[in-house]
Amino acid sequence: MTSDNPIHEVVRERYGAIAEGKTESCCGGGSDCCGSPSSTLYNTELLEGLPVDVTGLSLGCGDPVSIAGLKPGETVLDLGSGGGIDAFLAARQVGPSGLVIGVDMTPAMLEKANASKARLGVTNVTFRQGQIEALPVDDSAVDVVMSNCVINLSPDKAAVFNEMFRVLKPGGRVSISDIVTEGDFSPELRADAAKWAACVTGAIDAAAYTGLMREAGFTDIQVVDKVDAKDIVSRQPGMPRIFSARITARKPA
Ligand SMILES: C[S@@+](CC[C@H](N)C(=O)[O-])C[C@H]1O[C@@H](n2cnc3c(N)ncnc32)[C@H](O)[C@@H]1O
Repeated sequence: MTSDNPIHEVVRERYGAIAEGKTESCCGGGSDCCGSPSSTLYNTELLEGLPVDVTGLSLGCGDPVSIAGLKPGETVLDLGSGGGIDAFLAARQVGPSGLVIGVDMTPAMLEKANASKARLGVTNVTFRQGQIEALPVDDSAVDVVMSNCVINLSPDKAAVFNEMFRVLKPGGRVSISDIVTEGDFSPELRADAAKWAACVTGAIDAAAYTGLMREAGFTDIQVVDKVDAKDIVSRQPGMPRIFSARITARKPA
């Protein structure tokens, strides 16, 4: 499904250009503002065996897989799967009896992810085109929803959390890495679509973020860790403090 929201268009354009190698970083201008090299986000042993097409297209702000406690046979949904790094890592943990579904709205990202899937020869990962505000996934279909530096990009975060709740099985788990703030951006900064697409001004206050999760029905919401995001996004004067947080939650059984 394609939305008319102008933010979606700007975000799709930005990540399409990155997937096609037309821009070196999310911000252009050489600023590494929307992700860190995979070697700084993940335990490097975890990355062994993944091609550079995957590790070099890591645009996340943390490692949501390691806190997900994945088990063989589980079905996992990765929101905004990008080049597929977390989907491929999760696929190793759920094994051949499990399944990982990656959803992304940017065609060029899906092409890269599918090319890497073919190269790796994995059969328990599938990538679907769609928006995280209207997931192409059945009700109560997945054990775990994970996401890495994507929900901050959504113009309708309440819809994302409602969709996550819908597709999770009762008792299902959430494991997120995302950019959050302490305080809010001014309306002027929020209106800067380029900074939004660079994972900066779409981020919301951590308490508001977990509040939206609670409103969607999630329980056991925990901010597992929250570190200054200065190495991931570029903060400018007048902006609130910006963090990379890992958040877990559960849909009641
Ligand atoms: C910052 S990148 C993160 C990619 C990946 N999770 C990773 O860790 O490398 C954001 C990704 O989310 C996708 N995305 C952003 N907003 C989306 C939305 N509303 N629906 C679906 N995909 C979205 C983009 O196309 C892009 O691939």
